[in-house]
Amino acid sequence: MTTTAQSQDVGPAAKPTPADLVDALKTMAGNPPNARANFAKGVCVKGAYTPSAFAPLVTKSQSFTRPSEVLGRFAVSSGNPHVADTNKGALKGFSFRVGPAGHQSDIVTENAPVHFARDLTQMLASLKARTAGPDGKVDPEKFKAFGAANPEALNQAHLVGAKPLPGSWAGTIYWGVHAFPATDAKGQTRHIKFKVVPHIAEVTLSEDEAKARPADFLKGDLEQRLAGGPVRFDVLAILGQPDDQVLDTTQRWVNEDHRETIRLGTISITSLAPEDSCDAGIFNPAALADGIAAPPDEIFAARAPAYAISLGRRRGG
Ligand code: HEM
Repeated sequence: MTTTAQSQDVGPAAKPTPADLVDALKTMAGNPPNARANFAKGVCVKGAYTPSAFAPLVTKSQSFTRPSEVLGRFAVSSGNPHVADTNKGALKGFSFRVGPAGHQSDIVTENAPVHFARDLTQMLASLKARTAGPDGKVDPEKFKAFGAANPEALNQAHLVGAKPLPGSWAGTIYWGVHAFPATDAKGQTRHIKFKVVPHIAEVTLSEDEAKARPADFLKGDLEQRLAGGPVRFDVLAILGQPDDQVLDTTQRWVNEDHRETIRLGTISITSLAPEDSCDAGIFNPAALADGIAAPPDEIFAARAPAYAISLGRRRGG
């Protein structure tokens, strides 16, 4: 059955809008003022990107084939800017702007290879099922029922839950989640997924170690590491095959961890940056320099407008 644009915009079964999702994220977090609707807690950082000689095999994008400065932000998910870094349910994020002036791309990644919804209707239902009711309490039965009816929406929680808690932003693996069409120097296009891998081994915490950490330990950990030198990550492209599915953000590609990957380049974070450098605007998932195109899925399409609405709310709009 086909759906007309009109029938998506009206009626009780209308597809949620980006504004509906921002509202749901803000409500879930208790509406803290001036805070991002998600990943409200974070630190702004800067550094440099050095391309590898192999980047043009994947993309002609000058964002990835030329050296540049980098503006970045490490963050913790939730619209609550005081969420504990040790909260098991809170993802760790790494957003970065890479590329020379006029050719910049914003890549927004997190420590999960999949999203918690395959479309906007499922995403809104997931957020609502995790939001406190009028009594101020989240009803665990509500989320249980949601999960039973939407098993793929639990993939993210299962994948993240199977790993120990991250103990450092500098020692965490991040994924770009969506499948991005990448056009190489010869003009050939294939889908890639971004994976950002730290130069140091993954840093994790046991449950007992986590209990002993202060709620805001990640910032101090980063400062300490930066005092000892740059914090480095390889930016990898996981190569897609022609028959890979590219629309369902709750699913990994078959054998994704063992796919051929190409190192696009290396990010060296050298210091913290003034918070305003990150807070004055957004890391805009749709800002992609020629050679990397917008992923085709529905979730991706909602992100740039949602981030812009969140920015407006942060400014009191
Ligand atoms: C429809 C799906 C999504 C919606 C509606 C959404 C919504 C948002 C919003 C409103 C913000 C705050 C933006 C701001 O005020 O600057 C945000 C930030 C963020 N989101 Fe999403 N998001 C979605 C999907 C994703 C996915 C799939 C990922 C993982 C790749 C992700 C990772 C992040 C990160 C890391 C940040 C922090 C950005 C920063 O540091 O400024 N989001 N998201």
